[in-house]
Order: sequence, then structure tokens, then C-alpha cells
Amino acid sequence: MKLFMDTANVDHVAEVAGWGVLDGVTTNPSLVAKEGKEFKPTVLAMCKLVPSVSAQVTATDFEGMKKQGEEYASWHKHVVVKVPMTVEGLKALHYFRSKNIRTNTTLVFSVNQAILAAKAGANIISPFIGRLDDIGEEGMDLIAEIVHAWSFYKFDTEVLVASIRHPRHVAQAAALGAHISTIPYDVFKKLPQHTLTDVGLKKFLEDWERAKKLQVV
Ligand code: G3P
Repeated sequence: MKLFMDTANVDHVAEVAGWGVLDGVTTNPSLVAKEGKEFKPTVLAMCKLVPSVSAQVTATDFEGMKKQGEEYASWHKHVVVKVPMTVEGLKALHYFRSKNIRTNTTLVFSVNQAILAAKAGANIISPFIGRLDDIGEEGMDLIAEIVHAWSFYKFDTEVLVASIRHPRHVAQAAALGAHISTIPYDVFKKLPQHTLTDVGLKKFLEDWERAKKLQVV
């Protein structure tokens, strides 16, 4: 499973890219607003760190999406144009596929939306699991249904698990065979941690101190 970071913070991307585990970044207008930095330099800085950076169009009509998406794609070959799951968005996905511009469909909340986006030509679909959990549904069930449906067909569209809220979501996404998880920075920082690892390492180091005293030099 590929690991992406869901952020518009370049420092956070650089930090986790340094672990050697980061395959991409997803941004959205809310994350960009939170950082308060200029969009284009942010995207370009991230493109130097990872091979896939999703940049979301804010136009809601096909012509506007086409114009914005083509501009984003011209910035850097690592840019993936993020398009909302609407009828206008489907037209844009179809157009971008014909131009070999990579796309990610955002705000996917049903299997039918996932199928439509894949058929229109999306390279990635982003079902939002946390937001389904928020309204009392089981977001991970949607991932299971989409991955199951994908097993019958030959879509080349990757299933990206978005709106991840905790480390368990990442493990569940992997167990279901999702292609990508996009993970917020604070959740990413929790992934390497385990109490038994800390306890085990402390014991190894203490024992080594005792062992060293017995070594002949
Ligand atoms: O980037 C899209 C998605 O991951 C947003 O997550 O936490 O705002 O529901 P969230």
C-alpha cells in the first residue's frame, strides 16, 4: 500500500519523506487555508519531495476545471489534478484522461460514485471514511465494498482511503487491499510507535551495559 500525507505543510512532508516511506501528498482547499501559504510554491516544494501531489481545482464547472487543472499540471509532472465528484467533475476527468493529465477524484461517498469516476478515467478515487464515521456510518465498509467491486473488473483506478482519523484506519485499509492511504501528520507520527518496542529497546540497552562489563578487552 502506498502511503501519502494529507497536508499542505511542506515541513511535515519533508520530515516524513526523510523516513523513506512517503509516496505522495494530498492537499485540499481547507488544508491550504490552514497553512496560510501561497498555493503554487507549496505545491512545487512538495513536488520536489514526492512523485504525486494532488492539487484540487476550485472551479465547479467543466470549463473552469479544465482551465485550472491544465494550469496545475503545467507546474510540474508530479502534480495530480484533484477534481470533485460531480457531473461536471466527471466530464473533467474524461477530458484530463484524454490529455494524459493524472487525476484524483475527491469527495467520494458511495460505490456508484467510485464506479462513475473510474469509468470517466480517474487515476485515483478518494472515498472519505472519517466523514462517514462522523455521521454514524462505518466508513471502512465503503472501502471494503469498493475493493470487492474492483476485484471483478479491470479498472486501473487506485483506491485511496481519505479522511483517516487514527492508526487503526491505516491498518484496516491495508488489510482490505486499498492501494493508497492518505494520512494526516499527527496520525503518521503515531504509526512507528509501540509501547512494547520502547520497553524492549530499553531492556536490550540495559542488558548490553551489564554485558559490556563482562567483556574481555
Ligand atoms: O484530503 C481529503 C480528506 O482526507 C479530508 O479529511 O479529516 O477533513 O475529513 P477530513
